[in-house]
Amino acid sequence: MCGIVGYTGPRQAYPVVLKGLKRLEYRGYDSSGVALLHNGKLSVHKKKGKVADLEEEMIGKDLTAQIAIGHTRWATHGEPSDRNAHPHLSASGKLAMIHNGIIENYALIKQELSNKGYTFHSDTDTEVLLNFIEDIQQNNNCSLEEAIRIALKRVTGAYCILLVHQDNPDTIIAARKGSPLVIGIGKGEHFLASDASPFIEYTKEVVYVNDYELAIVKPDELILKNLGNEKVTPYIQQLDIELAAIEKGGYDHFMLKEIFEQPSTIYDCLRGRLDASAGTITMSGISEHIEQLKNAPRIMIIACGTSWHAGLVAEYMIEELCRIPVEVEYASEFRYRNPIVNKGDVIIAISQSGETADTIVALEKAKENGAFIFGVVNAVGSSIARISHAGAYTHAGPEIGVASTKAFTGQLAVLCMMALKIGMKKGTISEERYKKLLVELSDVPEKVASILKNADEIKTIAEKYKDANDFLFLGRGYNFPVALEGALKLKEISYIHAEGYPAAEMKHGPIALVDDTLPVVFIATKDSYHEKVVSNMQEIKARKGMIISIITDGDTVSPGLSNDYFSIPEADEIVAPILSVVPLQLLAYYVGILKGIDVDKPRNLAKSVTVE
Ligand code: M6R
Repeated sequence: MCGIVGYTGPRQAYPVVLKGLKRLEYRGYDSSGVALLHNGKLSVHKKKGKVADLEEEMIGKDLTAQIAIGHTRWATHGEPSDRNAHPHLSASGKLAMIHNGIIENYALIKQELSNKGYTFHSDTDTEVLLNFIEDIQQNNNCSLEEAIRIALKRVTGAYCILLVHQDNPDTIIAARKGSPLVIGIGKGEHFLASDASPFIEYTKEVVYVNDYELAIVKPDELILKNLGNEKVTPYIQQLDIELAAIEKGGYDHFMLKEIFEQPSTIYDCLRGRLDASAGTITMSGISEHIEQLKNAPRIMIIACGTSWHAGLVAEYMIEELCRIPVEVEYASEFRYRNPIVNKGDVIIAISQSGETADTIVALEKAKENGAFIFGVVNAVGSSIARISHAGAYTHAGPEIGVASTKAFTGQLAVLCMMALKIGMKKGTISEERYKKLLVELSDVPEKVASILKNADEIKTIAEKYKDANDFLFLGRGYNFPVALEGALKLKEISYIHAEGYPAAEMKHGPIALVDDTLPVVFIATKDSYHEKVVSNMQEIKARKGMIISIITDGDTVSPGLSNDYFSIPEADEIVAPILSVVPLQLLAYYVGILKGIDVDKPRNLAKSVTVE
């Protein structure tokens, strides 16, 4: 959460940072601000609302700067307001700081500073840390860098901080623990940001800063140190991402673009790995650890949100194809309970961003207990990718819309290949079934494309039901997690209350909600549960619920039970979720836009949840 960006170099710093903030806005958008440093003069400008509100506020001001840091906020401590927006200024007015994360022991430090006579102008933990740093610098008569190091040894929590000091006209000091930071290396210039999107048109050479590292960044110098003041050699990596990947490309919203990209993102995920005609799956992360994976006494899957739903589908896949017991855990629960993790257990971590705080901490805990971590991650080079012992990227490209879409289908494709490969090596799947599923999986991109051609049908359904107060999503087997995902998508971007349930479990409670005003979405594709699901549809129809069904081409029964239906191509039930989720993504999208909601930036949410 929160996006941070910084620039030091020969360009005008403000436009670089402002453009960067717009690209990072998906990380938080309740307020934003910049600190500009020009000829030893530091100025701070901030505004409640989106980055566009800040931009307007800046019209007519002197924006000349060699150095700038900027922040777009997702509030944790203190309501969204001008005064709580970052950057914050220290008591002396000489030091400005932006922060992504949470300082957990800020109240104690605030008390200590208050006792010394400090007053605060915001409700944030950030302002406390900033003044703590300045206080240390003044009392110890040390460099800013040293003061930051001393302060960070005292704080608990997560942070990525960027600081500029009026007396250091070309230097940004940055540090991270638990919140991401990447530094772009240009010719005589440096860029700093939460991810590489703010600067990919300037440079593809990057350094991912690690936890407990401090970066001293000048236009032509980058020094990395650990908190023990020892120099660390920066590991420079080459980015493989183009500007077009982070632009809307003619679509009204990133979410729509990302939904429509799925035929190619799924194809990219399978490309070079799955060869249906040769009957092979090439995944080095699996081949290199196949003994560990196939002999695992159990597999635990750890994730949050949509990624957790992908994990639930994987539970069905892995148990069926590999006969290994699987548990799917919410990272936020796993990290605080006392889970039993034994040496040899395999943990699959699923994350689009690779930066979700709860998932990271849960993995660190599992790793300490000797578990083997396999990461299924979209963001290349992200923290979870680096924590994992092995892994497979989803290759969906940057996902900017807050609602996860193409990352989910990419996760399902990777998890399906994993289950197939492990099952084949373990001998728990017949060769015939294995080969059939390879063909099924390789047909998915084309089938998704054919679903998208009929997106207008979903738009018509959305128009009809957009004013409902509640929705129920029901599915069984592989489609139960899809029901959960459909409900989550709708909630997130239309603000309509929605619940996902196993279709049969509905009669143990939620059926009480059913009347002639309740739309009930059935994911009723042709699979081994189909007849049972049709019975569940009858039960809803008997209570006058309005049925919207996602069915398989050629189904002659479900349309008669449905008020509206949408038909998708036939597919094996193991790969069907990759198809059946697509109309639900579209339904959420169209309901959201018909209700006038900014679907790429729905209220209260942020793309990357880097606080617990
Ligand atoms: O980046 P991650 O996959 O770890 O994120 C997990 C969730 O925060 C994420 O899936 C969230 O639920 C999305 N907004 C869902 O659309």
